Amino acid sequence: MSAQTGLPPYPNGWFVIGFSDEVRPGRLLARQFMGQEVVVFRTRSGKVCAADAYCPHLGAHFGYGGRVEGEWLRCPFHGFCFDTQGSCVKTGYGTKPPPTARLKLWPLREQNGLLLVYHDGEGAQPTWEVAALETEGWTRPICRAFTLRDHPQETTENSVDIGHFAFVHKYRDVRELCEIQTDGPYLSTAYAVRRAAPLVGRVWRGLSFAFEFETQIYGLGYSLVRLSVPALRLRARLWVLPTPRDEERLTLWLAMSARIPWTGHAGNPLARLPGKALAWLLARLVLMGLAHDAQQDFPIWEHKRYVQPPALAKGDGPIGRYRAWARQFYRQEGQQET
Ligand code: FES
Ligand SMILES: [Fe+2]
Repeated sequence: MSAQTGLPPYPNGWFVIGFSDEVRPGRLLARQFMGQEVVVFRTRSGKVCAADAYCPHLGAHFGYGGRVEGEWLRCPFHGFCFDTQGSCVKTGYGTKPPPTARLKLWPLREQNGLLLVYHDGEGAQPTWEVAALETEGWTRPICRAFTLRDHPQETTENSVDIGHFAFVHKYRDVRELCEIQTDGPYLSTAYAVRRAAPLVGRVWRGLSFAFEFETQIYGLGYSLVRLSVPALRLRARLWVLPTPRDEERLTLWLAMSARIPWTGHAGNPLARLPGKALAWLLARLVLMGLAHDAQQDFPIWEHKRYVQPPALAKGDGPIGRYRAWARQFYRQEGQQET
């Protein structure tokens, strides 16, 4: 149990362990993931794998001196090599590899520049997927990472907590565009809000834009917010990606990608600017604004306790429905009563 929330600390589902750019061919990185040490490596041919960081031979940590050699991962201690199926293909002595020397691999998907790893409390294989998105015409995701004392169910609840939008983030004219929808591990919501323009809004008071947020949540580790600012014809994608490191802390990644199909739209004041550079700049600006908004939540998230059942009032979002939906991600650990 997480001491802060009383929830099981590691929900089942897809969680980001890193980004494609961090693991180029021949590279390896070590991460704490769900209370375990995990290495992510990419072979020379480009296949990326997530594996337990400890060698099944005598327990060396691959993150400290381990290397990718061609299509194999080589241990720094006695030179045993493992292929991308986890089989030991070579010892450091030229002897027959022991059949018990098997490396545990985690289910991994690489899509939209994200490396997603599936966690299941009982080691079951994934039964659902996160949808891949069209990349043509979108900037590469840029991202920021934060370490927080919190639980992914709590950070993800932020998307349905309509009441705090005005109170914490100072959004105005908050409107629900459609009702919360759930379908197995997927949940979606849509809101419109008015928000001060990022950065310039602080100086140029009163400059604000109507933002529309369409949130698609795939389990407790992956939320995609499709963001649009109709006045600027700006469309962007914001990913909110909380991944538990241990029972208390998570890494919260915010990633942003923009698309600006305004070229040729007469009347748009931004139409004459070079699209790609501007898309990148706007992605930065919007990421800065939304990272600022997320940071307004941090002190509350880090020090709140999980209240179940909560004392809800008119004006709150669909928190009860969200929590009922979230229970499915603990079922295999037998901890569904949240
Ligand atoms: S501990 Fe890895 S080869 Fe011996
Ligand atoms: Fe928030």
